[in-house]
Amino acid sequence: MVKAIEWIDGKVIMLDQSKLPFEVTFIECTDYRKVAEGIKKLWIRGAPAIGIAAAMGTALGAQDIKAGNFNEFMEALEPTFNELLSTRPTGVNIRWAMERVRSFLMRRRDEPVDRLKKLLIEEAKRILEEDIEVNKAIGRWGAEFIKDGDTILTHCNAGSLATGGYGTATAPIFAAKEQGKRFEVFVDETRPVLQGARLTTWELMQEGIPVTLIVDNAAGTLMKMRKIDLIIVGTDRTARNGDVANKIGTYTLAVLCKEHKIPFYVAAPLSSIDFSIASGEGIPIEERGPEEVTHISGRGDSIQIAPDGVRVRNIAFDITPHRYVTAIITEKGVFRPRDLKKLIRDDVNLEKLRIRPAAILSCNREPRRSYKTSSRGR
Ligand code: MRU
Repeated sequence: MVKAIEWIDGKVIMLDQSKLPFEVTFIECTDYRKVAEGIKKLWIRGAPAIGIAAAMGTALGAQDIKAGNFNEFMEALEPTFNELLSTRPTGVNIRWAMERVRSFLMRRRDEPVDRLKKLLIEEAKRILEEDIEVNKAIGRWGAEFIKDGDTILTHCNAGSLATGGYGTATAPIFAAKEQGKRFEVFVDETRPVLQGARLTTWELMQEGIPVTLIVDNAAGTLMKMRKIDLIIVGTDRTARNGDVANKIGTYTLAVLCKEHKIPFYVAAPLSSIDFSIASGEGIPIEERGPEEVTHISGRGDSIQIAPDGVRVRNIAFDITPHRYVTAIITEKGVFRPRDLKKLIRDDVNLEKLRIRPAAILSCNREPRRSYKTSSRGR
């Protein structure tokens, strides 16, 4: 399975996702500033993957520090933390990774600085390895909600490329395939950066999963045609009430799902759940430059598709209120959004909170209808 990021021989190696699917090229980072640049320019993207990149970037930054003691070391590391934290605002995983690394160091304040530098590399690698395990657990829980013969719709890329490996929204898909289930996946192209068209299709095709690419605006019509059985998306940050920040267009899909009685699932590792935020209103939403909207880039040069000087708002993420979310698939099980906040309680009975496929499949779905399309339709 494809790897978005690795630590090899003292360097951070990232797959340049801005060039996919046409070129598979890797960028070597020996400096934390290059890692920060890669996050900003979407060479690496997807909330868990940028969290891993930030942890590895911190480990890189630490190697150049000359400090006599722990306090000097932490002080010298501060610009690295700050630069990485300032790269992209919506995904909570960068902050999650920085907090984890910081508290990891605080617990080892008595170690010599040279040893801390080595430990930091090990911790960053561990964050990547754990992310893969978390995603596999998401896959095991989530696959139960995929039936033989289903058609799944996904948006953006919440696959291996967006994580340490195996993906979040793709994890139930990969696990269901491993279980021998037959199904197909519709992928939204995901304007304007086309993560669906460029990345998710590429990833799923490599895994031998039947994929159909659609324009974003086709999702509603396909639902009306009863061609979609369930939706699974990822999240950049989910608030403790279950409001979900994800790629722009996710909200539209969730509202459409309600209208068409289609289950809408969000695959969320606990590292993407921000328990400090009460609702989606507290989530900062990234707005990006106009060129992503006024131009499209394919295999060659980018092409301008809008008039010079047109005003653009390029809102990169939206918030889906929790009432539209059927369930959230985590590494600890599948839960109703309203139960998310209970996960941090010490006395939580997970078994009692978990929901089972039968609870959803029996009440939400309308029977599939056969329908007619033109010979070129499906
Ligand atoms: O702008 P991107 O490509 O970083 O946005 C990515 C998404 O919105 C993903 O769906 C989200 O990060 C979940 S990735 C497991």
